[in-house]
Amino acid sequence: MAAGGDPKDYKPATRLVGAGRKPEWTGPAVNPPVWRASTYLYEDCVAQEAGRHVNADGVFHYGARGGPTQWALAEALTALEPGAAGTMLYPTGLAAPVMALLSVLKTGDEVLVSDNSYDPTRSFAVHALKDYGIAARFFDPLDVEGFPALIGDKTRALLLESPGSLSMEVCDVPALAAAAKARGLAVLLDNTWAGPTGFQALAHGVDLSILALTKHVGGHSDLMLGSVTANAEYYPRLRKRSLLLGQQASPDDCALALRGLRTMDVRLERSSRSALKIAEWLGALPEVAQVLFPMLPGAPGHEVWKRDFTGGCGLFTFILKGRDAAARDRLIDALELFGIGYSWGGFESLVLAVHPERDRAVMPWPPAGCDPAGRHAVRLWIGLEDPDDLIADLDQAFAALKLA
Ligand SMILES: Cc1ncc(COP(=O)(O)O)c(C=O)c1O
Repeated sequence: MAAGGDPKDYKPATRLVGAGRKPEWTGPAVNPPVWRASTYLYEDCVAQEAGRHVNADGVFHYGARGGPTQWALAEALTALEPGAAGTMLYPTGLAAPVMALLSVLKTGDEVLVSDNSYDPTRSFAVHALKDYGIAARFFDPLDVEGFPALIGDKTRALLLESPGSLSMEVCDVPALAAAAKARGLAVLLDNTWAGPTGFQALAHGVDLSILALTKHVGGHSDLMLGSVTANAEYYPRLRKRSLLLGQQASPDDCALALRGLRTMDVRLERSSRSALKIAEWLGALPEVAQVLFPMLPGAPGHEVWKRDFTGGCGLFTFILKGRDAAARDRLIDALELFGIGYSWGGFESLVLAVHPERDRAVMPWPPAGCDPAGRHAVRLWIGLEDPDDLIADLDQAFAALKLA
C-alpha cells in the first residue's frame, strides 16, 4: 500500500494520513513535492492541440490549472468529504464563499444568507453581489419553521455558516437544506469551524462545502488558502466559474496545507479538549453571563452539535456580565498567553473582542436566553499550550479586572 489505500474504507484520522498521497503526485517521496510551474511543455503540436480539450485535475496544461501539489490537496479534501465530486482551491479563505456564490448565482437571482455569517462574506454578499444585480437577504438560521416562507421566486441559493464564527449558533443544516432543496436552491455551507472530519457537510444535504484552510488545516498561522468541495451536481459549474475568474492557489501554500492536514486530527482533538476545560471554568465565573461553545453540554446549540457533528475545534465566545466595553478591553489587554488577532486555527491561543451586533440584520444580540445584563463578547481560540496555564492566565486577567 503506497499511501493509505482507498480512503473511503477508513476512519477520518486514517484518511487524513493517506488522502492525496497517490504516487502520481508524490513520486517516491512521502509528501507531494512542491511543483512550481507556470508553463508545462508539450511533446509536439498534436499533443498541444489535444490538450486544449481536456480540463481536469491530473492533466498538465498551464499553471493556472494547477499541478501535482494543488491536485494532491484538492484530491485529499475531496476524499475527506463523502459524496464529493471535486474540490477547487483559492488563495484566501474568503475567496472560497465568494467563488461558491458566483458559481451558483446570476443577475436577477437572490441568495438567503444566514445572519451569523462571517462579516467579509456578508460584505461581499451585500456590496459586490448588488453590483451584479444579485440580491442578498439575511435571515435567522435558528428559525427553521419560518425558513420555507422566505424562499421567493428569485431565490436560488442558501448560504449557511454553522457554528457562526463569532456568535457560535449551530443551525439544523439537514432541515434547512431539505427545505431549500425542495425548492431547487443550491445549499452552501461555510464549514470552517468543524471541517470535514467534524461535520460531513455533503452527507447532511449541503451541495458546496466551504473551508478557510487558513485556519486549522494550515494550523500554523503561516498561510492563506481556501477551498470549496462540491457534489456532482455543482462541481462542474464551480470548476468552470473558478477557472474563468482565474482562481488558483500557490503550490507552496498547498504543500503547507497538506502538511497541516496530516496532524489536524491531533491538533483539533487537543485544542477542543482544552477549550472544553477552559469553557467550563469560565462558565462558573460570576463575571461571565454566558459561554457560547457548542461542544459544551448545556450551551446553546449543544444538542444539534451532538446529533450532527463528530468533532469541533477550540474556537468559542463568552459574554461578560454587567461590564462595560472598557472593562472587556482591560481583561483582554491583561492576558499574557493569548495574542490579540483574527485568524484562529493556529498552534497559539488568541483572544479578540467581537461585536456581533455590528453585523446583524435580523438576529438579536445578545442572543435570546442570555442574561440581559451581558453584552460584551470575547472570542477565544485555544491553541496547543497547556490548558492549566491558559486558565491561570485568564484567572490573573479577571483578578486584574476586580482590582481596577
Ligand atoms: C468562518 C470563516 N470563513 C472564512 C474566513 C476567511 O478566511 P481567510 O482569512 O483565509 O480569508 C474566515 C476567517 O476568519 C472565517 O472565520
